[in-house]
Amino acid sequence: MVNWIGDSLNDNNPALRSEGFSLEAGTRFAILGAGRVAISLAFLLKTAGHRIIGCSARSSESLERAARYLECPCSTDYVESVEGADAILIAVPDDTVADVAESLASLESLDAIVALHTAGSLGIESLLSLHEAGLGTTAIHPLQSIPDIDTGIERIPGSWFGVTCDTPMRDWSENFVSAVGGSVHWVTEEERPLYHAAAVFASNYLVVLAAVVEDLRGDLSPYMPLIEATVSSLGTLGTAKALTGPVVRGDVGTIERHLRALEQKSELSEVYRALAGAALESAERFGRIDNEDAERVRKVLKDQQ
Ligand SMILES: NC(=O)c1ccc[n+]([C@@H]2O[C@H](COP(=O)([O-])OP(=O)(O)OC[C@H]3O[C@@H](n4cnc5c(N)ncnc54)[C@H](OP(=O)(O)O)[C@@H]3O)[C@@H](O)[C@H]2O)c1
Repeated sequence: MVNWIGDSLNDNNPALRSEGFSLEAGTRFAILGAGRVAISLAFLLKTAGHRIIGCSARSSESLERAARYLECPCSTDYVESVEGADAILIAVPDDTVADVAESLASLESLDAIVALHTAGSLGIESLLSLHEAGLGTTAIHPLQSIPDIDTGIERIPGSWFGVTCDTPMRDWSENFVSAVGGSVHWVTEEERPLYHAAAVFASNYLVVLAAVVEDLRGDLSPYMPLIEATVSSLGTLGTAKALTGPVVRGDVGTIERHLRALEQKSELSEVYRALAGAALESAERFGRIDNEDAERVRKVLKDQQ
């Protein structure tokens, strides 16, 4: 884990308190990246009273759009954008975060004292070069699906954020999340990849499962009330009670019929078997199935391979 090197920073800076960093009102943010997350977060920061003093991306189309939302100087030159900023928000593709951080760290002088990125699978190790340059670093990932800027602006307030930082950056990170209307879910550096894999299951693979339904039946709409009721049960009952269906009932005849019907679609039959196995594990863990029924389900899943 990266250690605090705050002693090397300017103690007179208002964003620094003796115990660490705090996000002061009217903080000047530079935004690197002008995509969905960058602009929606910057817009919400601006609404909360912070200042967006520059935004940088590669294409003129993105920069024009950023200028419309943020009303700030927008440029392909990130050096220009970060000049005079207290904090730098990096919201670029995950694989480029460390490179962007290194480019910033190699600048002759950097006014900012804090840098953050929004990638889910990366912790603060990806900002190590900036940390070594004396900045406080934090990884603040909106645990939300943001398909476009307007939806992001609408959905981010009320969302949770996976946050990874060292102790001196905790207050700053909490203040940031609260400024955009979210709640903090603390994640350690080591947990970061699994935390994000869980988010992919919660969102992307849920969409993939809906696409399987569409593939099998040609139309998702008759199944939408079922999907919505299931998601609603998850919120009210939790996973232990929300799980229904043939596995938890020990209905092996139904499982056999499903597997026979899926024989022509071998990839889907594999997905079905894997999910039925996971459902069986959950049912056993939550005490929802007795040993005898569990063995019968296990046998039919194994026999019909
Ligand atoms: N979208 C989501 O649902 C979501 C949710 C949570 C977290 N995130 C995370 O947020 C980050 C940004 O995601 P996004 O969905 O906002 O992506 P996006 O809409 O594709 O935007 C990416 C931005 O990065 C810029 N960019 C691309 N390559 C770059 C490079 N090499 N150097 C500098 N800038 C570069 C792009 O510039 P141009 O526009 O000029 O090409 C674009 O403005 C990612 O780490 C992602 O994992 C996304």
